[in-house]
Amino acid sequence: MILIKNGRIMDPKTKRDQVADLLIEDGIIAAIGKQEQDGDYERIIDAEGCIVAPGLIDVHVHFRDPGFTYKEDIESGSRAAAAGGFTTVVCMANTKPTIDNVNTLRELLARAEHLPIKMLQASAVSKGLKGEELVDFHAMKEAGAVGFTDDGIPLMDAAKLKEAMELAKECDMPISLHEEDPAFIDAPGVNQGIVSEQLGYGGASHLAEDVMVARDIMIAMETGASVDIQHISSGISVDLVRFAREHGADVVAEASPHHFSLTEEAVLEHGTLARMNPPLRTEWDRQKIIEGLQDGTITIIATDHAPHSAEEKAQPLGKAPSGIIGLETSLALGVTNLVQKGHLTMMQLLEKMTINPAVLYHLEQGSIEIGKPADLVIFNENESFIVDKFYSKASNSPFTGMQLNGKVIYTICDGKVVFENSK
Ligand code: DOR
Repeated sequence: MILIKNGRIMDPKTKRDQVADLLIEDGIIAAIGKQEQDGDYERIIDAEGCIVAPGLIDVHVHFRDPGFTYKEDIESGSRAAAAGGFTTVVCMANTKPTIDNVNTLRELLARAEHLPIKMLQASAVSKGLKGEELVDFHAMKEAGAVGFTDDGIPLMDAAKLKEAMELAKECDMPISLHEEDPAFIDAPGVNQGIVSEQLGYGGASHLAEDVMVARDIMIAMETGASVDIQHISSGISVDLVRFAREHGADVVAEASPHHFSLTEEAVLEHGTLARMNPPLRTEWDRQKIIEGLQDGTITIIATDHAPHSAEEKAQPLGKAPSGIIGLETSLALGVTNLVQKGHLTMMQLLEKMTINPAVLYHLEQGSIEIGKPADLVIFNENESFIVDKFYSKASNSPFTGMQLNGKVIYTICDGKVVFENSK
């Protein structure tokens, strides 16, 4: 038995917000409320001054396994997740080989069984992410995939996408979309605007995202599929998602911590460490994303944790790969830039990092309830730290050196302490 005493237990599903003890027995949440303090516990965790929340869920990570394990692998990715307070993650399918067939999926999931956290895997939508031949949706579901996505690459064939949405709906699983039309991208990873002009870099227009989101919410309405607009970056797209939701479409959107924290200006300071797809945009777009998070248009915060090696990111802006790591800074960026700036309540932030992603993927995780697996994060919203080292194999983050509030103290998965902050 593990006793967590005196923590502020916050659970967005049941709306519990109460200072209490929490008892874990055999990996399960056994009791909430005042507990005997000198019982026969294998461990007592003093959570005074800390928030005890459901283990965080990130529905958008790249563990690069198989194929690109010099960037990350399922072990290092899981350690990074645990360090960030995450107990469940959904990995994207842009690996080598692509997760587009039952054998590769099964092998990966078998290797993931021993991990300290719950690593779930999305299937590709199309074979080799080519946007042509669709994967066998039903077989991938049967083999354990939790959703479908060609993340990293947009699905350009609208008829094919409609077919994919219909299949995802048949499977009762979400389909997640990377929304960037190459027609409006002169050079990827940087917003087309003041900064790209200054750098003489072609850039990617917000139009690239907006035309795809506009098209896809229409197809979502027509098919009734559960559609997830990934890493939303454009203010106009936020309005489009709001429109879709108001008109009954089963559409959700993810915001990444970098899109609510930074603007295109970051490229001037951080170079390739601020290059990502879709790019950081203007302050107007950032404010629209915050507005979307506030009014419930954007229900999910997901990192798009995208590790790349130092050598790859040391290349010139036009050659370096897009993407940044995010698992170890996500919660603190939410606490610092959303909650402490008064944009969201702590409960709203946690909702977007626990129960909402769980609902999208039909997961039993994401809440603190008696009888449920003890997946928990214990963090101190007021404790600050300097971002300086990572458990990820990679360190491609523009947040290095920054002081953030909201330190993860413990991460607990199935009742086991999988991360503990050594001070
Ligand atoms: O910047 C990005 N990098 N965006 C994506 O959608 C994919 C990711 C990657 O895989 O590196």
